[in-house]
Amino acid sequence: REYNVAILGATGAVGRRMIEQLEQSSIPVKSVKLLASARSAGKKLKFKDQELIVEETTPESFEGIDLVLSSAGGSVSKKFLPEAVKRGAVCVDNTSAFRMDEDVPLVVPEVNSEQLKHHHGIIANPNCSTIQMMMALEPVRKKFGLKQIIVSTYQAASGAGQAAIEELKKEAQAYLDGKDMQADAKILPTKGDKKHYPLAFNLLPQIDVLEDNGYSHEEWKMIHETKKIMLNDMNSQDIKVTTTCVRVPVPISHGESIYFTVEDENATTDEIRKAIANFSGNVVEDDIKNQIYPQPINAEGKRETFIGRIRPDYENKGAFNMWVVSDNLLKGAAWNTVEIAEYLVKMDLI
Ligand code: A2P
Repeated sequence: REYNVAILGATGAVGRRMIEQLEQSSIPVKSVKLLASARSAGKKLKFKDQELIVEETTPESFEGIDLVLSSAGGSVSKKFLPEAVKRGAVCVDNTSAFRMDEDVPLVVPEVNSEQLKHHHGIIANPNCSTIQMMMALEPVRKKFGLKQIIVSTYQAASGAGQAAIEELKKEAQAYLDGKDMQADAKILPTKGDKKHYPLAFNLLPQIDVLEDNGYSHEEWKMIHETKKIMLNDMNSQDIKVTTTCVRVPVPISHGESIYFTVEDENATTDEIRKAIANFSGNVVEDDIKNQIYPQPINAEGKRETFIGRIRPDYENKGAFNMWVVSDNLLKGAAWNTVEIAEYLVKMDLI
């Protein structure tokens, strides 16, 4: 069987990579339709050696479509994905629009692909920061049990879209030219908020909107998505999670400093390193004698999650630190989405 595929948000930072990941995937593709806003209608993009014309998205765009890969923002997903489902398509959505809905599986295939069986037309791709943390910690949880996670993120500009990368570059140039960077700050820390600050040569401890509880929405997402993915209950107390999310002046690939405690207090660092390395999709880069550790510039363009600096907290038994890096646009977005679609095909769920 071959599939008619639509990519919603095809012109964006993630959408363009969804096209590439679909080209390289095992999914038998009959046709591809590229959808974006009216602004991009008529633009030409390639799928393999075919030149395709980007179309404005309407509900009718989804007639005859079997599979939708979407990354055009939450409100666009809310508006169009129910229309696609009504017309018989299965949608894998990279936005946060449906992630916490009870009948929507939230999936990292290496961790909880069995949840795909319960889908009702929409499957959610988790937040980029959550995905790479799940890759690093699921093998630890399976083998030693997890009690608590304390994570600080170092998140790349591209998490806020292609325009945020351009904004970072303009600010960096302004700084080098001795000019004021504020004039170029239009999107970050987050599009919808009142104030905007430069990211170049700076750090912004705000990703997404700030909530009344003192956390940013990105931090909230990491806490509750972790519980939904690992424990199938977004409010479970069986693993305690707390987060600090920070935007850093890196274009692509997120870093995470993760502190975690395990149930099995006899777990050794070597055993933990081995469990992480044996998990499909992970690459351990952890050789401090030779200064080997994961870095964003090396992870860019790769599907894997890179883990290093794995070490015990010598002051507390059963507690460890590690450093995790992955391309936020690939495993954090486009690749995980296409990988979910590969599993849906393999499991005969489309
Ligand atoms: P467009 O290029 O026409 O604006 P990014 O995450 O890099 O900012 O990309 C966002 C993606 O979502 C782009 O492909 C963008 O298309 C698309 N998009 C934004 N608004 C809409 C909309 N109302 N309908 C369909 N696609 C949209």
